[in-house]
Amino acid sequence: MPDTTALTLHVNGEDLQVVFPTHHSLLEVLRERCGLTGTKHGCELGECGTCMVLVDGMPILSCLVLAAELNEAAIETVEGLQEGATLHPLQVTFADLGAAQCGYCTPGILMAAKALLASSPEPTRDQIRSALAGNLCRCTGYHMIVEAVEVAAALVRGDTDAAPRREAIYGAAVPDEA
Ligand code: FES
Ligand code: FES
Repeated sequence: MPDTTALTLHVNGEDLQVVFPTHHSLLEVLRERCGLTGTKHGCELGECGTCMVLVDGMPILSCLVLAAELNEAAIETVEGLQEGATLHPLQVTFADLGAAQCGYCTPGILMAAKALLASSPEPTRDQIRSALAGNLCRCTGYHMIVEAVEVAAALVRGDTDAAPRREAIYGAAVPDEA
């Protein structure tokens, strides 16, 4: 195996010519050779999920995959989520509902959630929790993350009136408005 690999990576719809040490992970190549630092370094052991990206639509841990094996693959990172100046509904709801706090886990969670919505446009809360089970968050307690994914799913389905449940915002003790 050569020490250095040169290939074209297909990232967020663009072809990027990259040269990198053959043993480098996709995470390292994205951040250090492609300038795409939205994907985060965490444990580098496959345990935290913060490095998650999509490869051919499937969520994968980029710290565990060699970039040299991906010359045929379509890679999506958090930088490719928005379209032009328009944020993806997941980005909107995460921001609006406080589902991103320090934000370190957020790129990985957004990509895992995007894959979920592609396969399950109307996911149950259990499906959302299951899809995000490999993504650790030290800040949010996960509650608003699940809420944000549920509302984003409704927005993607075309329900422009989608909103979080009242109790998610105000707590269960607040009575309905008259
Ligand atoms: Fe890849 Fe933690 S950095 S799973
Ligand atoms: Fe801080 Fe998740 S928002 S780790």
